This record gives sequence, structure tokens and C-alpha cells, in this order.
Amino acid sequence: MYGRFRFRTLFGRKGTFMSQADGAKWISVAAARDAAQVGAHVEIRGWVRTRRDSKGGFSFIEVNDGSALANLQIIAEASLPNYDSDIANLSVGSSIVASGELKASQGAGQATELVAHSVRVIGVADPATYPLQKKRHSYEKLREWAHLRPRTNSFGALTRVRNQLSMSTHQFFQDEGFYYLNTPIITASDCEGAGQMFRVTTLPLDKLPLKDGKVDFSQDFFGKSAYLTVSGQLEGEIYATALGKVYTFGPTFRAENSNTSRHLAEFWMIEPEAAFFELADNMALAERFIQRLLSDVLSKCQEDMAFFDERVQPGLRDALAAVLTKPFEHLTYTEAVEILEKSGQKFEYPCSWGSDLQAEHERYLTEQHVKGPLILYNYPRSIKPFYMRCNEDGRTVRAMDVLVPGVGEIIGGSQREERLDVLLARMAETGLHEQDYWWYIDLRRFGTVPHSGFGLGLERVVQWVTGMTNIRDCIPFPRTPGSAEF
Ligand code: 4AD
Ligand code: MG
Repeated sequence: MYGRFRFRTLFGRKGTFMSQADGAKWISVAAARDAAQVGAHVEIRGWVRTRRDSKGGFSFIEVNDGSALANLQIIAEASLPNYDSDIANLSVGSSIVASGELKASQGAGQATELVAHSVRVIGVADPATYPLQKKRHSYEKLREWAHLRPRTNSFGALTRVRNQLSMSTHQFFQDEGFYYLNTPIITASDCEGAGQMFRVTTLPLDKLPLKDGKVDFSQDFFGKSAYLTVSGQLEGEIYATALGKVYTFGPTFRAENSNTSRHLAEFWMIEPEAAFFELADNMALAERFIQRLLSDVLSKCQEDMAFFDERVQPGLRDALAAVLTKPFEHLTYTEAVEILEKSGQKFEYPCSWGSDLQAEHERYLTEQHVKGPLILYNYPRSIKPFYMRCNEDGRTVRAMDVLVPGVGEIIGGSQREERLDVLLARMAETGLHEQDYWWYIDLRRFGTVPHSGFGLGLERVVQWVTGMTNIRDCIPFPRTPGSAEF
């Protein structure tokens, strides 16, 4: 009977498939684990996590298809026609299609199990060479196997949580009346002015065209120097001053040569920008956004969050839930520096007014002083980019950063300088050429308005809500100095 089976499917309703062979409906492991499915005749498609053979003449196969952290247990009796040839040798990582009846399970931690009528092996994974054997592997090791690590519990859970954060981002901003905007990935302007851009060029590197002893970029693809974007903010401002409220959600690139647990060369940033928003509106928006992300992840990813709580950072869920119960703390940069100076803490880098806060300072403030999220604002103008609105005191700008325990900065933003004369003065002060930003300056010439926005690093949020210690494990394929495999 098995030999005559032909693998054909028909599309059913809403992405389900009907197997023609026996009329069993293809459902996910997540759906099959629901007690309400007892008695249903279903088909499961996935990858083998474990196989145990019982002396009683049957095997237990744990199968996972990515739809949930937990596996479905399949019971394959020795009477199945391919038991000796296939099932009794079924190895970890092999792909199978199993159909049968869902029964109530006696086993702990599972409501159902599948008593198989058929188990077909689709693709074998050779146990001699398949790297993901039952033992636990370090996250460092798993980074070398980024093509296989999504098959582990940790990376399955991470991927589902990251998916939820992305969905919640769109839902939150849509609910708040923001339009989703796509800003360019190739750009000619350095938004942050920090000179950390990757150049994009089609010039032959072994035979660069020269003019007056310098590379002649007028011969390059775009007729001038071009780079991968570090931020969509400046283009976001263009649309905010027309549509009112917009947000971007895309990849950004920074050639920072910093090998830390919080930096990537390629990361995803969400950047809302709103016209007629002052700094206080911006801070309130950031707080509502973060709270929405946390409450959605806690309520919609319960199984995965329980996993991170047990295996990665004990107490994680309570700490995140506590964030939802009270408003964020706010401190000016000046107040923060006073707190750090009086803390009696030995920092590697001393802290004084006018210097940028180091990760150790940020973490002291959020982890020791506030013990929760903290919004710092009004930073010295000398350490911030040209576009931030200058305060009347002449020495600070309306910048805001959101810091959280365990990670530090997850949001950087500001109110933007909307006054033409002040903006031009700031550009001169920071060495920027007006002709490179003529369109940005035009926004202040034609109907200028106060406006504000911020950028939230998606991987930093993933890191915070999962408790993972390294940001390289918070993105499917990390790009860092010296590493761009996969
Ligand atoms: O503070 P940043 O540099 O702000 C901007 O880019 C503004 N233009 C945003 C805006 O106002 N529209 O970056 C924003 C956030 C940081 O708070 C951090 O979460 C994340 O982006 N980030 C990084 N994440 C991973 N790796 C890196 N190298 C990052 N650099 C920044
Ligand atoms: Mg920043």
C-alpha cells in the first residue's frame, strides 16, 4: 500500500492542504497540540527532534515544524509497512510527513499525540554529519551554523518573538495614525554625521579613475559618492512635513568597528517622525510604543517567553511585566551626570559634563539607579548631530535616549531644528555643506513646523525582551567586523 502512495496535495482553505491519499488535513504542530483536536484525522509535516524505540514494538517520534516551541509526539507502530526500513532508523533532523489520528495523550506536558497511520520520510539527515545532535550547543557554536540554528528551541523562539515585535510595531503605528514609509537604502547623505557609512560603488577598485590626485567619484554609478544608509530620518522628515506622521522600518548599516555585544554592522531600525510634535510628545510616543511591544510579546508569545524565562534569564517575565505598571523615569543629561559623579562607582571611563555617556554609565543609571526604563534628554549640543533642536541655554539640544536594564540604549531621538537660521549655523559649526542638504534646508524655508522623531533598534529590543546576552543572536544572520557568512 505504502509503495503505491503518490505524494499529491490540493490547496485547501486558507493555506491548509488536503492530502489526497487519505483525506487527512495538514495542520501545524501548534494546532495539533490543542486538546480540541482529539479525534481529528490530520497530517503533520516537519523535522524530527528525537526518536525513542519502545520494546513494546513501536517508536515515539518528536516532530517540530516551527509553529511552536513544543513538539508533537508521534506514535509509530511496528506494524507500519516501512517501520523496519525507515522509521526504526529515523534520525534527528530528517523531514517527515505523518498522518493519523490525534488522541488524548497520557504523557505530561502534552494534551495530544498522533497515532500514525503513515509516516513518510521526505529527506534524511545523516546522523554522522548532522551538527545538531541532542546535546546543547553554545550560542557561539550555533553562530557558525546560522543555516541550521533556527531548528533549535532558542532560535525558533527568538524568531517567533522577533516576528511578533515586527507585527506589533506596524499595528501600533497604524493605530496611532502613522503611515508606513520606505526610505532609500542607498543614499548620499550622512544623517548622523558620524562617518560610519559603507560606500556603494561600481568603480573598479584595481583601477580607480583619478582627478587631481583624488578618486574621481563623478565617474561612479550615481555621479557622486554614495553609501548605505545609517538612518532614514532625513527622508522621514520630508514625508512628515507633508503627511503629518510617518514611520520607517528597514535595514540600516554602520561601519563601526566595535566588537561589542550590542553592535551590529547591519540592523533594523524603526523610525517614526511626526510634525507638530515637541520633545515631550516624542517621549510619550516612545513610552507607549515600548509598552505595546512588551504587552504584546508577554500575551501573544507565552510559551516562548516562558522558555526565555527558564533557560536564558530567570525572572525575565516579571521584570518586563513590571515595566507596564508604572511610567518611565525621566532625567536630563545634566541630572544624570550629577548622579553618576556622586555614585561613588568606579567606572572605566570617568564621566563629566560634556562627554558622551558610555555603556557602563547608561547601565548604572538604568540598572542601579532607576531599576527600569529611563528617558534621558537635553544632551550637550557638542556631542549630538546637526539636526537636533537647540535649547535656549545655548549648550544643550532636545535629544532623548531611552535606556533599559541589560541592554542600555534602545532608542535615540530628538526634536528637530525647525528654524532655518539656527539650522544653517549648526551645519556650519559641524562642517556640513549646505549644497549637500539643500532639500533638507528647503523644509525649513517652506512651511516649517516643530517636529520630532526617534529610532528604535529592533535587535536591541529583541535582546531586552528575550534576555539574550549577545545581539548577534537577535538577528537571523549577523553582520559584524570580519564576518558576513551566509
Ligand atoms: O541613536 P541612533 O544613532 O539614532 C539615529 O539613527 C536617529 N537618526 C534616529 C531618529 O531620530 N530617527 O540609533 C537609533 C537606535 C539606537 O538607539 C539603537 O537602538 C540602534 O538604533 N542602533 C544599533 N543597533 C545595533 N547595532 C548598532 N550598531 C546600532 N546603532 C544604533
Ligand atoms: Mg544613539
